[in-house]
Amino acid sequence: MNITIIGTGYVGLVSGVCYAEIGNDVICVDKDPYKIDLLNKGKVPIYEPGLKELIATNRLGGRLAFTSNLSNAVRHSDIVIIAVGTPPLPSGEANLSYIDQAAIEIAKAMNGYKIITVKSTVPVGTNERLAKLIKSHTNMAFDSISLPEFLREGSAIQDTLYPDRVVIGAECQKAADTMVQLHKPLTQNIVVTDIRSAEMIKYASNAFLATKISFINEIANICEKVGADVTKVAEGMGYDKRIGSSFLKAGIGYGGSCFPKDTSALIQIAGNVDYEFKLLRSVVEVNQDQRFNVIRKLETIFDGELNGTTIAVWGLSFKPNTDDVRESPALEIIQHLVDNGVRVKTYDPVAMESFQSLFGKEGVIWCEDAMEAAQDADALCLLTEWHEFAKVDLHELQKVLKQPILIDGRNVFNEEQVLGTGFIYYSVGRPNLNQGVKEKVPAL
Ligand code: UGA
Repeated sequence: MNITIIGTGYVGLVSGVCYAEIGNDVICVDKDPYKIDLLNKGKVPIYEPGLKELIATNRLGGRLAFTSNLSNAVRHSDIVIIAVGTPPLPSGEANLSYIDQAAIEIAKAMNGYKIITVKSTVPVGTNERLAKLIKSHTNMAFDSISLPEFLREGSAIQDTLYPDRVVIGAECQKAADTMVQLHKPLTQNIVVTDIRSAEMIKYASNAFLATKISFINEIANICEKVGADVTKVAEGMGYDKRIGSSFLKAGIGYGGSCFPKDTSALIQIAGNVDYEFKLLRSVVEVNQDQRFNVIRKLETIFDGELNGTTIAVWGLSFKPNTDDVRESPALEIIQHLVDNGVRVKTYDPVAMESFQSLFGKEGVIWCEDAMEAAQDADALCLLTEWHEFAKVDLHELQKVLKQPILIDGRNVFNEEQVLGTGFIYYSVGRPNLNQGVKEKVPAL
């Protein structure tokens, strides 16, 4: 099939490349000429494992092209997929201005019937509104499809080529059939439904996953007080198929460009129809507070006096295998430390530059590697579970730190690694592994 994808962010770029990989002719469009230039030179504007290689093979195979010329691309295609950003407005609602603009430009470029598909995450009712907007700018026939996206950064290619399911929201059966044909090579689990339900499936899925994370983080906080191990609790819960084992990793809370934005948007969507989504409000509140456990633990260890200390921070991205730092807990944690007179030394394997562009370059010491960041620090906080941190020999680490204090915000280290070292070690919901500060842990 001939497909145009508008927007070369995570969703647009990865989807485009994967549609090409399964044999379609794909044109990816972005209005940013710098991005298109990079892509045409074989470079990739985002860090996503395997993406560069897949782009190269599909460009070579003649199935994938990049352009800033939206009109030409639309004219060459039967299916046009909108995958532009819907960033949050200060109210929490999604900003739909980019999507509206894309819809108008598509309408103006149309030279015949098209299936116009929305992959961007949009509030319920948006596709219907967009259809009206398109109709007001063209006489050509088209059908609207809602095609919510479920890929995760860091494993985006795997998630797209082997999805758990594909959801297609359509009013027209023929257009739905075409979209089913397009996705058949990827999975048998294709849910065809009405457009509003498809839009809701996306928000409900992200909100549910966020709920699992906040739930297990609260269980972890209780585990710390009652002397239970949250990793074992999660394992014991996860074997129950009704619960499932994924998204039960306790830590410092979720970040990224999706869960924070989509949970706020769903609260707002509910509010717009006079429904208070109490559960989701609590999920967001728990998540916001969870990151400050790192600070609270440091304060316990340093008797409330962080001013003048040197703290190393490992990991800046909101999760491993990505350079994305949007809504990363590291932003607020580091800001809090800096504001409280801490000398922060930090290192991340790939996200240093993107972190600097959001946080600024001032006030933090940027290090070349993990050990350099740890050198002479009074304590080390691990905020992202990059594989290279898990491999570190704690005895070697202990030698470079000024004080052997480690706050493991992602439960990266196991019992074998920790016990027997001289570390004052704090993790999340595993009090049995906490060492060296037992007298400061609140008694049961
Ligand atoms: C998320 C969803 O998982 C995707 O299905 C969805 O398509 C995407 O949002 C989106 O809406 O575009 P993503 O934000 O890339 O994907 O990353 P996740 O792997 O879901 O992780 C989100 C956050 O949750 C990370 O900060 C991660 O550290 C945290 N997390 C995840 C936990 O704290 N514990 C867990 O057990 C799992």
